[in-house]
Amino acid sequence: MRRRDFLGGALASLAVPALVGRASAQAVAGQPLPIPALIDIGEEAGNRIDAIAGRRAFLDGAKTPVLGWSQDYLGPTLKMRRGRGARITAGNKLEQGITAHWHGLHVPGWQDGGPLSVIAPGHDLEQTLEIDQPAGTYWYHSHVHGRTGEQVYHGLAGLLLIDDPEAPEAELPSDYGVDDIPLIVQDRRFSRRGELRYDDDGMALMQGFRGDRILVNGVLAPVVRVPAGMVRLRLLNGSNSRVYRFRFEDGRAFHHVASDAGLLPAPLRRTEIQLAPAERAEIIVDFADRQPVRLISADVPISMMGGGMMDRGGMMGRMMGGGSEASEGGDVFEVARFEIDQGREAKVATLPATLAGAPRPDLGEPVRRRSFRLNMMMGMGMMGAMFGGKPGLGINGKTYEMDRIDQQLRLGETELWEISADMMAHPFHVHGTSFQVVSRNGRAVDYAETGLKDVVWVDGTAEILIRFDHPARPDAPYMYHCHILEHEDAGMMGQFTVS
Ligand code: C2O
Ligand code: CU
Ligand code: CU
Repeated sequence: MRRRDFLGGALASLAVPALVGRASAQAVAGQPLPIPALIDIGEEAGNRIDAIAGRRAFLDGAKTPVLGWSQDYLGPTLKMRRGRGARITAGNKLEQGITAHWHGLHVPGWQDGGPLSVIAPGHDLEQTLEIDQPAGTYWYHSHVHGRTGEQVYHGLAGLLLIDDPEAPEAELPSDYGVDDIPLIVQDRRFSRRGELRYDDDGMALMQGFRGDRILVNGVLAPVVRVPAGMVRLRLLNGSNSRVYRFRFEDGRAFHHVASDAGLLPAPLRRTEIQLAPAERAEIIVDFADRQPVRLISADVPISMMGGGMMDRGGMMGRMMGGGSEASEGGDVFEVARFEIDQGREAKVATLPATLAGAPRPDLGEPVRRRSFRLNMMMGMGMMGAMFGGKPGLGINGKTYEMDRIDQQLRLGETELWEISADMMAHPFHVHGTSFQVVSRNGRAVDYAETGLKDVVWVDGTAEILIRFDHPARPDAPYMYHCHILEHEDAGMMGQFTVS
């Protein structure tokens, strides 16, 4: 049955199918949500994550090669504490190079795990990260130039949480795995035999690779058991290119309390939330009504038709019909199902009106302005970019090169960056710091709605205020790039020093 027929014209509240795969192996739906092990990373020796290769059955019975950090897919959740060193060894037990990039961490370039910091097969890299930034939900992943998409797709990613003992979030649910639940959402594609597929065809280069099945923490359509009452969900869009617009099937409101890089000043009531690749959100959902409910997502087109050039409501997609990717515009699909654990009461009953410990932006006035234009074609024409030859993706007319430094920045100076997108929308990410989004397409953005970010969705133009407080030398520069991993791998990335 095709999804489109199934949904018909009815409202999504009737039933929301999982994305319909072409795979014939049965989906193992309804498994309990796996909660990644939580490792407290302090200054003591001995904490490590090892990139390993394994096999895993996502679909019934069919094992497929995967990568993971110390486990067969994804990795443990690393918990670090503000004001304390985090000593960690990243080991590489694979036959290919990897890096350990701490996405969102304010660490110097040589600790950032960018593409120039490859850990060779059989090698280890031990570091002590000095954690000094707001509590929040960050993540880590491999970042080898040209292979990030493939490596993350196969599992080389995990969550990284920062706690701030000076700003305790006592009023928010914080019992990991119980009322504070990590949800790493990823779309994947499987062959008929249940093998993970990652084929980098022309379409993937243009739009980014999209799967037709949704995994949460590595399993399909999981059931999340939650206590009756307030529960915090930490959402990470860990997909290569898919954008989600999450909401609950019954339309219930929830509170948005944190974005990429820490708490918002006050909880924000919402009924849906959009996350582009690499973006995070912490939301508080009230399950006091003890009703099971599904977390669903609308399909957000980022294609050339649905993205920057046209109104992105998916109208174009619906008009096109015919089962192409772009036609998925108005559809919804299931992400996870929540059921109430009747034996457990939630510890937190009410939400605070304001969020103590929320970072306050202190970026001041910019001393300099820079523009970054994310380019799709670079003069090659669409056919050339889609069907082979050298990929035509870049920034400011240049494809990423490992031995070229694109900018040299000054430590501690605030800058205003204008980022604009050709052809389609892109999630723009910057290493080494967090930034403030100040405008989108010429309209001011309210900080209270975005908080501090390290990824900004650029659908047209966005302006950010940014400052770096750590150095990055030419041998280990910081990156900025599109976080559609196929775009990044194809060269929509640049690198800069800070001194
Ligand atoms: Cu999430 Cu440059 O990385
Ligand atoms: Cu990053
Ligand atoms: Cu992009």
